[in-house]
Amino acid sequence: TSYTVRIESLDQEVECREDQNILDACLRNGVWLPHACTHGTCGTCKVEILDGDVNHGDASEFALMEYERNEGKTLVCVATPESDVVIDADVESEEGVTMHPVRDFEGTLVALEDCARETRRLVFDLDDELSFNAGQYVQVTLPNTDGVFRSWSMANSPASPKQIELTIKRTPGGLGTDGWIFKDLKVGDKVKIAGPYGRFFVRTAKEKPIIMIGGGTGLAPLKSMVKHVLEEDTGQTMHLYHGVRGYEDLYDVEYFKQLEADHEDQFFYHPCLSEEEGVEGTSHGMVTDVIDEDFKTLRGMVAYICGPPPMVEASLKMLMKKRLFPRDTYREDFFDAS
Ligand code: FES
Repeated sequence: TSYTVRIESLDQEVECREDQNILDACLRNGVWLPHACTHGTCGTCKVEILDGDVNHGDASEFALMEYERNEGKTLVCVATPESDVVIDADVESEEGVTMHPVRDFEGTLVALEDCARETRRLVFDLDDELSFNAGQYVQVTLPNTDGVFRSWSMANSPASPKQIELTIKRTPGGLGTDGWIFKDLKVGDKVKIAGPYGRFFVRTAKEKPIIMIGGGTGLAPLKSMVKHVLEEDTGQTMHLYHGVRGYEDLYDVEYFKQLEADHEDQFFYHPCLSEEEGVEGTSHGMVTDVIDEDFKTLRGMVAYICGPPPMVEASLKMLMKKRLFPRDTYREDFFDAS
């Protein structure tokens, strides 16, 4: 069975299967709704149900409180329709931004490399071109599961749409990492990939200088953004801060150093080690403290932050102190237990 979902505020309708979440139906039909985690935990995709019934699915009781359910709110990334439904979603359209519909792809692993401590780089060839905005992510279905997926951001730029690069850190006991990527995944293996997802992508229409803060493998979407901005030749200045514990956790150091040399006065690379001191070419300290030291003010810049939630929160606080406010701040939090 499938039902009609009407998005009142956008004056659009899509068909949604009873076993399909409403967000999925929308994104695959070119109706873009705000979302971040696609797991029912962040609350970004909350909408109001004006008419009809939904099953709230796996919505976290923190992201969708009891009283909100009673008020007719739901999280479309996990909600499935139980009748025809009318929803009201708060969608701001942004100038100069095109969102690409979600599609399914078959990926073939063509490279697998240990690039840092407990971190692997995977390169997949896709069976078709994946159009996305630099910074967005894909869902990879774990093999031998009933559609369980993990989300990882592309580190490549949209200019190479038939091959994607992912960097993945091991999570002890994680089904996707310990149970697969760090276990028996090998070159030649095929996987199901869907995307693009997310609203964390670089806004080249904002011609402001950029500061990027990545924690660990939170570097991936930022790498994509850096490449994209340079390819688009917008001339925006970029400061990339990569925060990790020790030197062994850094990766792509040579790559970024070379970019820095090739784009003098435009791109600046700042690796920060929280637990190691005196390593040439790096700063010592928490990435937020290092930025605090490096800049008197960040007024007039735009920030992109990706990493574990505590790092993201600490960054937001530091940015505010430096006069860089939420309207010019974009964040991506790590959510899933990989
Ligand atoms: Fe739906 Fe996060 S709760 S996108």
